[in-house]
Amino acid sequence: MKFTTLFTVASAFVPESGLHNHGRDSTFEWAPPGPDGLRGPCPMMNSLANHGFLARDGRNVNLENAVFALNTGLNFHPDLATVMFHAATVANPEPNATFFTLGHLNRHNVLEHDASMSRLDAHFENNHLFNQEVFDETTAYWTAPVLDAQMLANGKLIRQINSRAANPDSTFTRRVDAFSTGEVAAPLIVFGDLDTGTAPKALVEYFFQNERLPYHLGWSKSTESITLQRAGLGSEIIHNATSLLTDRIVTSARERRDLHSGLYH
Ligand code: HEM
Ligand SMILES: *[C@@H]1O[C@H](CO)[C@@H](O)[C@H](O)[C@H]1NC(C)=O
Repeated sequence: MKFTTLFTVASAFVPESGLHNHGRDSTFEWAPPGPDGLRGPCPMMNSLANHGFLARDGRNVNLENAVFALNTGLNFHPDLATVMFHAATVANPEPNATFFTLGHLNRHNVLEHDASMSRLDAHFENNHLFNQEVFDETTAYWTAPVLDAQMLANGKLIRQINSRAANPDSTFTRRVDAFSTGEVAAPLIVFGDLDTGTAPKALVEYFFQNERLPYHLGWSKSTESITLQRAGLGSEIIHNATSLLTDRIVTSARERRDLHSGLYH
């Protein structure tokens, strides 16, 4: 279940968070953050805040608010949302925190890590704003209108190579790899189709570049609840596709069903 460890970081009450539950919108219209809005390195958490599924100021992401946002915005099962929330409270520097802010997610090597698909390594300054040049490195390998697991995996691999080659502080632990794998799987899980292991590139690029859910491009949230198991399958598909060996790999749920053999651990 790589996805379950995927977005893990941590925290308590800090002044920027306040003690009250922030109200959520009822309309979920997209709007950019206001001048005091906190945003972080996660394009999805930023998007959920930009739509008002999370508080638009990016504060007070507690269990209730996280489950609401992931469930209402994306149809994540509450159990999956709960696991992800608990993994993320370490982002808050206060011990035993019961909430975090999107700003907390910027702390380097807590959850935020090197070799992101769309952010600079912390060594090169801003580790949390969308960066088109970095995204271009990734998307150079997104070579068709419909992304598959290998294209996504190739983008992941090139960012790891480029980070290791250019950044003397480059850090990419086994734990980071598990997180990163889940992040790279996110397009399949949210914007694509696990059964075929594909996702429309236009939806994924629009999401990254605008931190906005691509409703007007025809996307809507999954009608099927996204469970821990489904998310884990997405990670597994990406994990398999990152191998540079040419042995047969499983790159979709369909192939996995067809094989159901010893190929899988
Ligand atoms: C509790 C919920 C979540 C938390 C705390 C969280 C946190 C994070 C953090 C800290 C990063 C930065 C990692 C890096 O340095 O690249 C990140 C990246 C990312 N997250 Fe989230 N995330 C959450 C939910 C989600 C969901 C539901 C999705 C979509 C399925 C998602 C998609 C992504 C993607 C695609 C990236 C990679 C960005 C890049 O590589 O440039 N996240 N997330
Ligand atoms: C945090 O939780 C741990 C484990 O429950 C406990 O031992 C510790 O005292 C707590 N720390 C604070 C600051 O509340």
